[in-house]
Amino acid sequence: MSRFYITTPIYYVNDAPHIGHAYTTVTADAVARWHRLLGDDTLLLTGTDEHGLKVQRAAEENGVTPIEQADVTSKRFRDVWDEIDVAYDQFIRTTESRHHHAVQELLTRAKDNGYIEKGSYAGYYCVSCEAYYTESDLVDGNCPVHERPVEWFEEENYFFKLSALEDELTDWLNSNTVFPDGKRNEALGIVKLGLEDVSITRTSIDWGVQVPWDDDHVFYVWYDALINYATAAGFGSDEAEFDKWWPEAHHIIGKDILRFHCVYWPAMLIAAGLQPPKEIHVHGFLLLGGKKLSKTGLTQIAPADLVADFGVDGFRYHFLRDVSFGPDSEFSYEGMVARYNSDLANTLGNLLSRVTTVVAKKCDGIGPAPQLDSPLAAVAAESYRTAADAWARVQPSVALEAIWNLLRETNAYLEQHEPWKLPEGSDEVKTVLGNALEVLRLAAILSSPALTRAGEAIWAAIGLEGSPLDQRLPDAAAWGGYPGGLSVTKGQPLFPRLKVDNGS
Ligand code: MSP
Repeated sequence: MSRFYITTPIYYVNDAPHIGHAYTTVTADAVARWHRLLGDDTLLLTGTDEHGLKVQRAAEENGVTPIEQADVTSKRFRDVWDEIDVAYDQFIRTTESRHHHAVQELLTRAKDNGYIEKGSYAGYYCVSCEAYYTESDLVDGNCPVHERPVEWFEEENYFFKLSALEDELTDWLNSNTVFPDGKRNEALGIVKLGLEDVSITRTSIDWGVQVPWDDDHVFYVWYDALINYATAAGFGSDEAEFDKWWPEAHHIIGKDILRFHCVYWPAMLIAAGLQPPKEIHVHGFLLLGGKKLSKTGLTQIAPADLVADFGVDGFRYHFLRDVSFGPDSEFSYEGMVARYNSDLANTLGNLLSRVTTVVAKKCDGIGPAPQLDSPLAAVAAESYRTAADAWARVQPSVALEAIWNLLRETNAYLEQHEPWKLPEGSDEVKTVLGNALEVLRLAAILSSPALTRAGEAIWAAIGLEGSPLDQRLPDAAAWGGYPGGLSVTKGQPLFPRLKVDNGS
């Protein structure tokens, strides 16, 4: 059996989840769901990043302790993921003791291998990024990402000898590991410019993982955070489990954290004598009015606001179908309504309601079997091939477009044959409806990584037992699986049409 391990970034607990986080998490969830359909042994990891100055300061501002801040906000993330059907297998918190232990173990190995040494550091620090910048990185004296003032920090720290790993990193980046290509080139560019050693511990705060060989230091939050991916796979607690999952590690990240994931993280693993991740997939930003949606900006939108208007399936479908994985994408409420109406209400919803209505009228409510040499069989096979290839490349919008192409072709097929005008109980009406029912069966399965609720409803409406999630690909995608002779029911519209509203 194949294995598949996929991760989201772990989110800071200084503030509430917004749709930027939801976009990444739903993407990882959908890819994991596709792998479960393939029958792969799948592990989806998400979680929260709870240490560091940013969280400590948020706690101070809220008049609570850092762990109280983390407890409350971490739960908010879990609640949002439950609300939008993110079926994670593990939710990691960096304050867990298994994680502290893994961090200490991994970095001790890097030190024992000669990659960690003591030195002193001074530089400009952005607390929102939890990162140092050089003077030339700053824009008008401000952090280039947050456009806010940086602070001058001087510390005696332990340094990670990143500069010693340039060749290994270049080889790893050249071996088909970072996607899309533009992002791999960006990471290669960072390495080519020359890497400086990085400071990985702090003495100025104590909210972090203790450095095991020096009581005065805690690890800098990023060097603890990245290790979460190894912790959850069993590093430091269950080596057999780690050996099983780690070779299959796929990270999904936003472009803001490319340097940490595509340069520092593989370097840390190599330094500790471990294998770098198998693949890293980097997406762009969701923008609102040209600016990155963020917790520190005023433009944050809570997933719940959109779920209230579009439902869970409408919410997930929008981000998976309308946002092409890779480039930046402008968020538009009106665009979301338009996509919902065209793809969910008019294409999928309408197909189900037409077919179930006509089966009731012309076939006594009993769904006929499809024709084996249906003209739709070839379209279905092509849709499946395209979708499978796209999910494997983490391109949900391409995969869903392929499935919706089949649905549009099926609606056109119905328009052409007009089964509502054919004689009741005739062979012709049975053939047309049987073919359309087969497409609905396929749609229930193949859309299920995106539409976690509609698939079950379609399955039940066309009289099938069990769940589309119990089907296994590729066999279940072969044309002709709808047996016929089942009771078909016309229910409520799956996706009632929406009017374009103001969205505010
Ligand atoms: N805690 C670090 C990550 C550590 S991973 C070992 C962090 N957290 S974060 O809360 O700021 O979330 C970062 C991730 O959220 C981004 O990489 C991206 O995946 C997602 N997004 C946050 N805002 C986003 C947009 N506006 N658009 C798209 N994704 C966004 O960084």
